[in-house]
Amino acid sequence: MDLTTDEQALLESDNPAVRKSMELLVRLGDIYGAEEFVEIGSAQASGISYKSIGDPGVEFLEGFAAEGAEVQVQTFANPAGMDIDRWEEMGVDPEFAKQQRRIVGALREMGVTVSFTCTPYLAGNLPGPNEHIAWAESSAVSFANSVVGARTNREGGPSALAAAITGRTPKYGLHLAENRVPTHRIDVDVELQNQADFAALGSWAGRIVEDGRPYFAGVDGATTDELKALGAAMAATGAVAMHFVGGVTTDEEPPTDLETLEFGSAELEAEYGELNSTEDTDLIVFGCPHASVDEIGQVADRLDGESLDRDLWVCASGAVKSQADRMGYTETIEDAGGMVLSDTCNVVAPIEEMGYESTATDSAKAAAYLPGFGEQDVHFDDKLSLLEEAIE
Ligand code: F3S
Repeated sequence: MDLTTDEQALLESDNPAVRKSMELLVRLGDIYGAEEFVEIGSAQASGISYKSIGDPGVEFLEGFAAEGAEVQVQTFANPAGMDIDRWEEMGVDPEFAKQQRRIVGALREMGVTVSFTCTPYLAGNLPGPNEHIAWAESSAVSFANSVVGARTNREGGPSALAAAITGRTPKYGLHLAENRVPTHRIDVDVELQNQADFAALGSWAGRIVEDGRPYFAGVDGATTDELKALGAAMAATGAVAMHFVGGVTTDEEPPTDLETLEFGSAELEAEYGELNSTEDTDLIVFGCPHASVDEIGQVADRLDGESLDRDLWVCASGAVKSQADRMGYTETIEDAGGMVLSDTCNVVAPIEEMGYESTATDSAKAAAYLPGFGEQDVHFDDKLSLLEEAIE
């Protein structure tokens, strides 16, 4: 890679955290054929749940902070393993909580905004179009590239943190305009009726296109929440970091020579089958990716005056939850027996150690991850149907 004088100085810095970060990024750039660095506007650190990184991760982050690691750009943190304030109510083990709090302390010492959300774009970190960023949460990467028009690769936790500490990332992949084009065309020949349908489409598409960049034709409008569900699913069953929804996220026609796939009612129905392994659940979770205030409002509207026969978590960023609190949504949901949690989610919280064995969700990403990460059987359906099943 060609390094500027400033970048060479970072590589030779007396600060070991800066030096190690730059060494990692140069190696990464060499592997991917980057010729130069690009400065970034923001970063997003992942791998900060104690469940994911364990004691070695805690010690690494504390050691890195002690070596002088300090972020140079706005850096948001991905969800933690618990609601930082309500972990006892969640039923999290005190030893887990102690270790998670050490991670919070190390991040804060480095200057990371302890936002603990996978939807930074709903919580105060919204990049501009074509802004270069280094985000690590795959669903947020997809949203940033596809909906916002910012530019980021799917960073890992270490490379995103290194980018935050140096303020730059190697310029390759989706930082380059020539790579931000569709690789497949998917003709959607079925009406997508809710967020779960968009998630099912994404789940199906991700498995097929893997790390491609699909262009969806025939989608008749989509909300922000539907787009985040679509992108999150593709990033989970595949490694899709960017997609296009004709007439919604782009007005440009796709190239005419793309491999074309069809998604109709048979594929939609089959995908629901693929995502379901049980109908008998002891926990419902919404907010994967973290819920918007509108989603929380939909849940509150249905639960007003009702009572649930099983646990319910609605996961959101702290910023969105505080809006839900003010709207009275949190109180309505919690009066019905649910919880509105911030900072965490069903995948990175230790739900298997909290007695849950089967989870209901409207998220295809959660449905894909929960069997492995949370040892859960899964029931996948749209929000209102899942609530209907659980209202006493
Ligand atoms: Fe976010 Fe957790 Fe889902 S990090 S995208 S809520 S698995």
